[in-house]
Amino acid sequence: MKQTQKTPKTFLGVGYTRDRAGLPLEAVRVPVPQPTADQVLIRVAASSLNPLEYKLADLNFMGRTPPVVLGLDLAGVVVAVGHGVSGVAVGDAVAAMADLNGDGGWAATGGSGSEGGYAVARQFLTARKPPSLSFRDAAALPMAFLSAFASLFRAVQDGDTVYIPGGGGGVGHLAVQMAARALGAGLVISSGSTPQSIELARHSGAQHVFDYKRDDIPAEIAKLTSSRGVDLVFDATYSEQGFVETAKTVRRGGSWIVLGVGPGKTTRLVDTHSPVDAILAERGAQHVNVNLLRYFSEPATLDSEALALLQRGMALAMEWATQGLVVPHVSQTIDSTVEAINAGLQSLKAGRGTLGKVAVIVDRDLAAAK
Ligand SMILES: NC(=O)c1ccc[n+]([C@@H]2O[C@H](COP(=O)([O-])OP(=O)(O)OC[C@H]3O[C@@H](n4cnc5c(N)ncnc54)[C@H](OP(=O)(O)O)[C@@H]3O)[C@@H](O)[C@H]2O)c1
Repeated sequence: MKQTQKTPKTFLGVGYTRDRAGLPLEAVRVPVPQPTADQVLIRVAASSLNPLEYKLADLNFMGRTPPVVLGLDLAGVVVAVGHGVSGVAVGDAVAAMADLNGDGGWAATGGSGSEGGYAVARQFLTARKPPSLSFRDAAALPMAFLSAFASLFRAVQDGDTVYIPGGGGGVGHLAVQMAARALGAGLVISSGSTPQSIELARHSGAQHVFDYKRDDIPAEIAKLTSSRGVDLVFDATYSEQGFVETAKTVRRGGSWIVLGVGPGKTTRLVDTHSPVDAILAERGAQHVNVNLLRYFSEPATLDSEALALLQRGMALAMEWATQGLVVPHVSQTIDSTVEAINAGLQSLKAGRGTLGKVAVIVDRDLAAAK
């Protein structure tokens, strides 16, 4: 292991300390992890909130033994690398995603950076951060960007009509930009339920944005597409009712791509009946399930192809953000205190209109550096 800077043996993380304890998370002192051969150890400058974090605290479905420190999106400086790591060195500014069945880097520092937060990430989930991208913005990308990327890359064909509901969400606003500006979609349609989220979806490149609480979106999309339907739907909303509506908008032979566990399984507790497969079968449409968690819960699925895709995704996240093609919208920036993180996660969980991404400043001094 190559290491230069002096790194403490422990840090005060933020996470859950009991199996399925749920929110609120707590401050918990944990050892600073050591990188294995293919990992880097990052001193964390910034992170962001993802719904996965309250879900892990609620259900501990990766079967971890607490304490589990959360904050899986990472941007910071590499302080140690495993012996098999090349191309990323100590001192490099990076963005990364921690293994989703591992620990994150939220530290109960209050943003003062006195002690710092540390997390390991695999080399293939780590990309050098361009100087023009702030640590805060870089940290808003990994999980949400990779979710959109793994779903849309190679799936969107030039000129496609694409429907991405929830274009004001963390994944949604990046997915809309990606389809519209980087992957060549011809027409992007989206939805939201608040004036702000509708505006963000529009600003992200969706030409038509409907209100999913008020509009009959399948009928509106039928009008827009001369009753043909869209070539591709990407649904990252985790809404069972929403799934039924979006499935009705796919054209004959098109694709319905869902992020995560998919129809009938969104509670993760019981399977419920969903008519989605019947709706898709009637149209001869493809049901595609993309789930980043699978790569970590079923290691055999993390084959060389998946690894290369995610590595490419991390590199393109940095590249497209600097080119202004896929830029995270950070609607709120909070300090890494237990209270602020809990309040942010409670808002996400309650669906209280969190817009785009919420950034977490773990180390204010480091985050202010380029
Ligand atoms: N398994 C995986 O690989 C994976 C990876 C990343 C994320 N996820 C999951 O994906 C989901 C989205 O993550 P996120 O970070 O984007 O969350 P988020 O920022 O909370 O966004 C949720 C979005 O869904 C929209 N929405 C909710 N119900 C809807 C409906 N019926 N129709 C249309 N839009 C609807 C909301 O729109 P308004 O705010 O306008 O109401 C909001 O834009 C979460 O459940 C997360 O856990 C899974």
